[in-house]
Formats: sequence, structure tokens, C-alpha cells
Amino acid sequence: MLGQFPVVSILGARQVGKTTLARQFSESWNGPTHTFDLENPADIARLSEPLLALERLEGLVVIDEAQLNPDLFPVLRVLVDRPAVHVRFLLLGSASPKLVRGISESLAGRVAALDLDGFGLSEVGGDHMEPLWLRGGFPRSYLASSDGASATWREEFIRSVVERDLPGLGMPLAAAAIRRFWTMLAHLHGQVLNLSELGRAFGVSDTAVRRYVDFLAGAYLVRQLQPWHENISKRQVRSPKLYVADSGILHTLLGLRTWADVEQHPKVGASFEGFALEAVTTRLASKPEECHFWATHAGAELDLVVVRGNRRLGFEFKRSAAPRVTKSMRIALEDLKLDSIDVIHLGSHVFPLADGIRAVPVRSLGSHISLR
Ligand SMILES: Nc1ncnc2c1ncn2[C@@H]1O[C@H](COP(=O)(O)OP(=O)(O)OP(=O)(O)O)[C@@H](O)[C@H]1O
Ligand SMILES: [Mg+2]
Repeated sequence: MLGQFPVVSILGARQVGKTTLARQFSESWNGPTHTFDLENPADIARLSEPLLALERLEGLVVIDEAQLNPDLFPVLRVLVDRPAVHVRFLLLGSASPKLVRGISESLAGRVAALDLDGFGLSEVGGDHMEPLWLRGGFPRSYLASSDGASATWREEFIRSVVERDLPGLGMPLAAAAIRRFWTMLAHLHGQVLNLSELGRAFGVSDTAVRRYVDFLAGAYLVRQLQPWHENISKRQVRSPKLYVADSGILHTLLGLRTWADVEQHPKVGASFEGFALEAVTTRLASKPEECHFWATHAGAELDLVVVRGNRRLGFEFKRSAAPRVTKSMRIALEDLKLDSIDVIHLGSHVFPLADGIRAVPVRSLGSHISLR
């Protein structure tokens, strides 16, 4: 992307590995490199006159935690618009452009954004599916020396996010209330978002709840899946579904530390659904706007529909080793004119279930599904 755009941003949740990735990348950069970390007081001082500090630099300039100084973006635009200068900027940040004032406006047409997630199933390999599901994909959590150490890391992560990061982004709640809200969302993981119900339960208005959800989504901590709407006579659900962005964080919010805890919890099916959803969308490299769920008020539903060009792939997630065809799947296949439905399951075999519908194990989904 840096070959094509003067500015590239790597955005993702706290602790997901942005700085590490940027450091590895700078080490391989052919030419001079410079790094500024906007959480480091010395670097903040070096950048107090940004135009002056940056205008003589050539090569790769990494600006870490760039969201902390939105005034920098118009300066970058001036710098990259100069003719014949050899400079590239790599911005790292843990807040989405929606939450950071001015990045898209100031740098329109000059910036490409790359979203960074935690470790995915294709990276750790299907044999490591269980620890990845239990611990989630944050490097420190996944690589911890024991399940207990991993759970403790996540507990600390949640604490620092609610005490420091979310208030820092402007979320107008005390740490304990943010934690309570996030935990409420964990209990709704995989369900259609009902703002007025959530507002009532939390004791605030629909609009306040909407804003709180946007803060958590903007910090890459929850994910919303938009509903698909097909032009048919059936009444269809129009609100998004909500997922906690990482299975490990979900488990910690629900107080689940071990496999036994997860397996006995009523949300285990929803946890699998979120985990498998992440695995499929990462494998297909699908953009959020290509991913939907579908549901009618009469009760037909499909967990995931990925739409790209004229391709339409359907997915169901079943925490069982012997999934069966349901009426819902047949209705979805026909009403949505899907190319296929893959039922992603916990067993170990690929097998046909019906015309256009097959069962695919989550462990090996990488070798069976693609958008080609
Ligand atoms: N690919 C990796 N393999 C192993 N460990 C990693 C990897 N990437 C990151 N880590 C570890 O994960 C932790 C977080 O990484 P890093 O500081 O790069 O994340 P970050 O996204 O910049 O976090 P923050 O938003 O808090 O600045 C570090 O301890 C780092 O060593
Ligand atoms: Mg960092």
C-alpha cells in the first residue's frame, strides 16, 4: 500500500500488535526511517512544531498512536502534496476514523487504511483452534504460558481499556459503568441489537446507548453485522447483530476462565458463532460492508451472507459435529439466490448435506472456502 499511497494507516484494537508490525516493517525498509510515538513525552515535544519537525524528513516516517493528535493530519497533507518529495507516512492508531476527527477529511485520496486483527485461525493453524477460541487472538493472551495467565492478561487488558482508553476517546462514563455496559453487550453477543431494550436495562436513552456502542465499535472492541435486505415480500429484520470482537475477551467478560466454564455456559453456541464468523470473514478477506446476516420476522435466518459482485455465499455456524439441513437453510438458499451454503461445524469432515449445502469443519475451513 505504501507503494501506492503516501500515507497508510494501520488501525486496530489496543495490544493487537500494531507497533510490533510497524517495527518489523521499518527494519526491512530500504532507506531512512523515523519513528514518533505520541504517547512518549519526548516525541510529543519533538513534534510540537509538526511542519518544522517533519518537513526535512525523507524515507519512512512512523507515527504511533496518531489518533492522539488529530491536528497533525492537515500538516501531513501539506507535506505529502509537495512535488517530488520522497517521504511516506505510516500512521498507527487504536481508534476508527469515525472516532478520530479529521483523518479522512484531511487526507482524502492520500491515505489507505489497513485493519489489523489479532491472530486468526489461518495463522495459528487448525490444530490450535481450541486455545485460539478459548483465549482469543491478542498475541499476549494467545501466547500466555497457561490458560490462567492468559485469563489474567485479559482481565488487565479490560481494566486498562475501561479506565484509560475509552475515557481517553471521549466515552462519557465512569470506568465501572463502561465495564458494566461492555459486559451487558457480552451477554447479548450474537443477538440482534435492540437499542430501546438495552437502554431500559442500562437506564439511559436509546441515543445514549447507540453512542456507547459506537465508542466500543470505534475502539475495535465490538463488531456489528448489518442485516441483509432482499427485495421479497417477506418482512425482514433491519437492526444489526452485535458481537464482542474477540472470543477471549468475550469469555473474560462472561467470567469464563477454562474450557469447562465455556462448555457449560449458555452462551457457548453464540461464542462459537462469533469465533467461526471471524474465521470465515478473515479467510475471505471480506470487508465489513460485504458481510451480513439475514432474518425474517417469520423465523427464517442465516448467520452470514457474504456478497461480493455477483457472488453470494451463505454460512451457518453449528457447534456440533453432525449438522443437519434445516428449513431455514433451504429458504435462505432460494430467497437470497445464494451460490451455496456452508455449514461450519466442530467435527472433522466435509460432507454434502443437500443440493448446494455442505458441512465444512471450522478447523479446515481455510482449504475449503474461498470467493473464487
Ligand atoms: N506477531 C507477534 N508475535 C508475538 N507477539 C507479538 C506479535 N505482535 C505483537 N506481539 C506482542 O503483543 C504485545 C502487543 O504488541 P504491540 O505493542 O505491537 O501492540 P499495539 O497494537 O501497538 O498495542 P498498543 O495499542 O497498546 O500500542 C507486545 O507484547 C508484543 O510483543
Ligand atoms: Mg502500540
